[in-house]
Amino acid sequence: MKLNLKIWRQAGPTAPGRLDDYAAHDVSPDMSFLEMLDVVNEALVRQGKDAIAFDSDCREGICGTCSLVINGIPHGPDRGTTVCQLHMRRFKDGDTVTVEPWRAKAFPVVKDLVVDRSAFDRIIAAGGYVSVNCGGAPDGNAILIPKEVSEMAMDSAACIGCGACVAACKNASAHLFMSAKISHLALLPQGAVERNGRVISMIQQADAEGFGSCSNEGECEAVCPKEIPISNIARMTREYVKAVWTAGG
Ligand code: SF4
Ligand code: FES
Repeated sequence: MKLNLKIWRQAGPTAPGRLDDYAAHDVSPDMSFLEMLDVVNEALVRQGKDAIAFDSDCREGICGTCSLVINGIPHGPDRGTTVCQLHMRRFKDGDTVTVEPWRAKAFPVVKDLVVDRSAFDRIIAAGGYVSVNCGGAPDGNAILIPKEVSEMAMDSAACIGCGACVAACKNASAHLFMSAKISHLALLPQGAVERNGRVISMIQQADAEGFGSCSNEGECEAVCPKEIPISNIARMTREYVKAVWTAGG
């Protein structure tokens, strides 16, 4: 296949950006989208030109590092799929494909398609952890947790922190990401000790980072590669109201 690519190029955080045209030749349907970009980059390097910067690590859909908006959709056209797991068989010979970075004020562009997602790290540092001693595996096995509760907690823990939910939301809200982390810990007894302080601190940090409010449109759920349900946001809101009420504020 031959594809016509329109790729966002931006030399640095404050430099102006633009969509540049590239032709991708000899694209195999079995290539992943990132492998196709690797081939484009090899040709650019051979010509002495600057390679297109983009993020990736595991390329197995588990680390949350890859982050491309393809034809306007974070992670591209396949539901429940990271862009590193998107394959070129999803495209047709002669297609024009636009590739852009996550766009959100809280995720500033570093270069080309790479954005700075350290705001997510600061939200986790504000409360997305357990600091009580949970003991070892035998202690964990001694705490009986209903199967449906443990499964809900594990489904929430599947969030890989990629930020596609933010990129899809017109308010650049981090609610789906935060609600996954808060649900994961609020559902389990090990997370109960810091439950109230956690939700308040994480939401305050998200506000400070410049993420917006939930738009209630569900764009986040539609693009989430781990299919985290928006019902987590309702749980986070209940957690927040309860925590503020308990704190007397
Ligand atoms: S909720 Fe989904 S889209 Fe958002 S950071 Fe987690 S895995 Fe990515
Ligand atoms: S590179 Fe790890 S999830 Fe895509």
